[in-house]
Amino acid sequence: MEKNQKRMDKAGAVKFIAQQCKELGEKLNGKKVLCAMSGGVDSAVVATLLHKASPGSLTAIFVDTGMMRKGEPEEVMRAFKIKRGMNLICVNAQDRFLDALKGVNDPEKKRKIIGEMFIRVLEEEAKKLGKVHFLAQGTIYPDVIESGVGANLVKTHHNVGGLPDRIDFDGLIEPLRTLYKDEVRKVGTELGLPDNLVNRQPFPGPGLGVRVLGEVTREKLEVLRDADAIFREEVVSAKLDIWQCFAVITGCKSTGIKNGKRIYGDTIILRGVNTMDAMVADFSRIPYEVLAKASTRITTEVASVCRVAYDITGKPPGTIEWE
Ligand code: XMP
Repeated sequence: MEKNQKRMDKAGAVKFIAQQCKELGEKLNGKKVLCAMSGGVDSAVVATLLHKASPGSLTAIFVDTGMMRKGEPEEVMRAFKIKRGMNLICVNAQDRFLDALKGVNDPEKKRKIIGEMFIRVLEEEAKKLGKVHFLAQGTIYPDVIESGVGANLVKTHHNVGGLPDRIDFDGLIEPLRTLYKDEVRKVGTELGLPDNLVNRQPFPGPGLGVRVLGEVTREKLEVLRDADAIFREEVVSAKLDIWQCFAVITGCKSTGIKNGKRIYGDTIILRGVNTMDAMVADFSRIPYEVLAKASTRITTEVASVCRVAYDITGKPPGTIEWE
């Protein structure tokens, strides 16, 4: 696939929306489309485009995989169902995902399992709706090239290579396939989505599943969710310009002292990166005071954590996510 290097401006975004609404309206023509909302900007923009192009066609589904960030399922329901009147269903599939991931350590296997389970859950929901013709996804340009279309495989991306072969839909709709992230944000702004949503940091399809290293468990997810929320809160309150930041739970235990007692506790890694397009990235130079505050809060407020480290690796050689 060819990608024009000239980035979309405001006028380009307006034109893109008009063109997509026309094309999607014609393609859907009363047919049903299912859109999985992840809580991220990509799927939010896709669902909003579809809601605008053909509101009666859309059923949006938010699959609560149990691997979302703190408070995320509630936020998504509030922003789209309550505020915009979108036809959005929240499916609690936490137990199914966690059961399927029991004993699985390999990152690529985890991605495949999560991707497949995601589609199974969507298929089941689709069946409840009667005939659904299309599945819409928020695949963007870097996902396409990093998943091996015209390039070497870096990671199986949840919304491209991780899909199982058997899909019970007539076709996929991926309106953002030619856009970089900054272009998706411009389209989101022109669609009238709120700033906090448009500027939301990217979040991988497999969610916190690729930030819990090794086997994913409910306990590790709880620890990670709390640590991650604290770190992001501190970055926001320091008003830092960071493209993406998050916490990772390593599974590596280390010795520490808490409340005067020796513990063998969890290790959390903090990662912050700056990049134009996620293809090449540098680690963010977060001021020590901000890191210190995040570390103190995490080790104080999250009982099992006794060590926090900051990742100083660029991409390449490190990818942004740890798995
Ligand atoms: P990596 O780790 O490949 O990440 O350097 C580049 C960007 O992509 C995000 N990412 C994903 N996004 N599905 C997605 O939609 C995925 O499976 C996935 N894996 C990574 C990552 O958060 C970063 O912004």
